[in-house]
Amino acid sequence: MDDKNISQAVVARLPRYYRYLGDLKDSGIERISSQDLSKLMQVTASQIRQDFNNFGGFGQQGYGYNVEYLYNEIAKILGLNEKHNLVIIGAGNLGQALANYVNFERRGFIVKGIFDKNPDMQGRELRGIAVQSVKNLERFVRENDIDIAVLTIPKDGALKMAETLVKCNIKAIWNFAHVDLNVPDSIVVENVHLSDSLMKLSYGIVNKKLNNSKDTE
Ligand code: NAI
Repeated sequence: MDDKNISQAVVARLPRYYRYLGDLKDSGIERISSQDLSKLMQVTASQIRQDFNNFGGFGQQGYGYNVEYLYNEIAKILGLNEKHNLVIIGAGNLGQALANYVNFERRGFIVKGIFDKNPDMQGRELRGIAVQSVKNLERFVRENDIDIAVLTIPKDGALKMAETLVKCNIKAIWNFAHVDLNVPDSIVVENVHLSDSLMKLSYGIVNKKLNNSKDTE
């Protein structure tokens, strides 16, 4: 399957398809038409067909989609058929919340190590994993087949940490620090800013208010 030219917008929609198909599969549904999937997910059937056509279609005309097959194919496209070992760097509030979220493991993301620079944190256990000194990080990443580093430290230390991660050949960084990392293109970076989402929500509230006041004018 050649997915080199798949747009980021399509890739960004795949996890949502994956979630819905997982729920359908768990409720014992074997087939679904693009129309029914469209109603369920509140996206147009043509959008669904266009998205899936990027990967060869997945469906037979008139028969709808085989839910389990589609679920497994999307999992393969997203690389979820393989396990990904990860380390969490920064064992504060956010690092702990992520470490304690068991569903990542169900998706194949396995927390192997947790690191913090604060000696008071070191030795504490989060879900049976002892927090280690960042001094051990490079060696640990090399020796434990770690793909992903989760960066939950303040932005001050994040750039330096990214340099260290480049040195130990990390494949991907899930970056929660509020700073853009300067790493080679060979490393995949996914920036997460929960506050961006909140700001979008705020925009929605403000605009609803504006529209409502226009409606009543
Ligand atoms: P926190 O203060 O509870 O934890 C930060 C931890 O990182 C501390 O244990 C500290 O010792 C450790 N640390 C600091 N520098 C380090 C370094 N260079 N190497 C290893 N460990 C280091 O903070 P919290 O609430 O967990 O947030 C962490 C960071 O994530 C904050 O900077 C915050 O701005 C950011 N954040 C980002 C969010 C997002 O959506 N992107 C959401 C919430 C927080």
